[in-house]
Amino acid sequence: MSGTNAAGSITVTLDGTNKSTKLALKPGTIGPQVADIRKLYDELGVFTYDPGYGNTASCDSTITYIDGDVGVLLHRGYPIEQLAEKSSFLEVAYLLLNGELPTAAQKSEFELGVLRHNMVHEQLRSFYNGFRRDAHPMAVICGVVGAMSAFYHDSLDISNPEHRRIAAFRLIAKLPTIAAWAYKYSIGEPFMYPRNNLGYAENFLHMMNAVPPEEYKVNPVLARAMDRILILHADHEQNASTSTVRLAGSTGANPFACIAAGIASLWGPAHGGANEAVLKMLAEIGHVDNIKGFIERVKDKNSSVRLMGFGHRVYKNYDPRAKIMMNSCHEVLSELGIKGDPLLDLAMELEKIALNDEYFVQRKLYPNVDFYSGIILKAMGFPTSMFTVLFAVARTVGWISQWREQVEDPTQRIGRPRQVYTGAKQRDYVPLSQRG
Ligand code: SDX
Repeated sequence: MSGTNAAGSITVTLDGTNKSTKLALKPGTIGPQVADIRKLYDELGVFTYDPGYGNTASCDSTITYIDGDVGVLLHRGYPIEQLAEKSSFLEVAYLLLNGELPTAAQKSEFELGVLRHNMVHEQLRSFYNGFRRDAHPMAVICGVVGAMSAFYHDSLDISNPEHRRIAAFRLIAKLPTIAAWAYKYSIGEPFMYPRNNLGYAENFLHMMNAVPPEEYKVNPVLARAMDRILILHADHEQNASTSTVRLAGSTGANPFACIAAGIASLWGPAHGGANEAVLKMLAEIGHVDNIKGFIERVKDKNSSVRLMGFGHRVYKNYDPRAKIMMNSCHEVLSELGIKGDPLLDLAMELEKIALNDEYFVQRKLYPNVDFYSGIILKAMGFPTSMFTVLFAVARTVGWISQWREQVEDPTQRIGRPRQVYTGAKQRDYVPLSQRG
């Protein structure tokens, strides 16, 4: 992890001309400095080219720092390992939103604020009936969250700090309720309301598993594991879904619409949908004897098969979240009395073989956060279709923190990337009769 870099500049010269320009280097607190290219087109008439923005900083941010080369993840400077072990999801939510760990008074006030917003407008329930029972729950929560902008008109003025504050509380508090109801709707069971005598993760597990006719006691070990899983998924710098939320937010769209856009982006199997894809992959492999054949298919350039839950745009080392997730796996499985879960055994053998295979070593492909999460969630009784929904519940905290940072950043402008045009040159319209 590099220290603070001295500010400087780089000079860019257009070969074959006498044109050049000096680009300021902007240092971060830690990590690589960036070259400010905002005047490049005006001075040299060229854009930069970076499909997927893998080498492009889209903003200043103080929320999360990742050093992918060494596998470091910091939230407001605190290592994810320490937060996962010592903190709680709502405390991490406060940290991401406000920049500092809360005092005892701030923590209880924040937790009470979340509790007071965990019910949803009763008319939002009718949106569920518009979906088929077999609709993917990501489709359902995307629709219901987007619809929130039609119900909470008193928190849509993004220039009003109070509206931004209430919108953040509403989204953090209501996502577990909306997510649990999507599950209950899919299995035809009655919706369970949140209970204010339960913690955040405990409440979610209660709404997922309880039924009206009887009392349901949440297993405290599973509630703690759930809370830790939410912490591990809370925020992750400028990933695809967070960048989606920021881009939508840059137009002045309301927070509910922006978070719905983030949910849609997270759903893809290359991103948050990977946890669901990992379970499907493990089911397809079926047995450790089939691992070598599967790995050969992954390495075969003619096949589009990927080792899901492996690889990462930023991590070129072990994703620190995956390590914590694997340890949680063992804790949850032993609490549930599951001896030698075949899926976990298969996943661990798959990881061992992959990490010793030149193809993965050369490309620096390691397990990411999605490789083990699905195994825990399946053991806890979640259907695979709910895995990415859980990711969305957790990431809502990161999305809304990043959205708010952008709205409050006076230098931020509407996002509008350029392109290199490789299409037809200007030509005249050809009448239908002359088109052959
Ligand atoms: C998340 O950005 C974030 O922070 C995301 C996230 C978050 O918290 O928000 O961390 C959550 O999305 C984790 C990633 C979950 N996705 C998966 O597990 C899906 C499988 N992984 C990939 O498809 C892939 O690794 C990505 C999408 C995650 C990253 O893709 P990149 O950075 O664009 O890498 P690439 O496609 O350019 O791959 C580089 C090389 C290629 O081989 P060559 O062309 O050089 O021969 O590595 C290969 C790829 O074919 N490769 C893989 C692979 N991932 C990359 N080969 C096999 N299996 C894989 N999983």
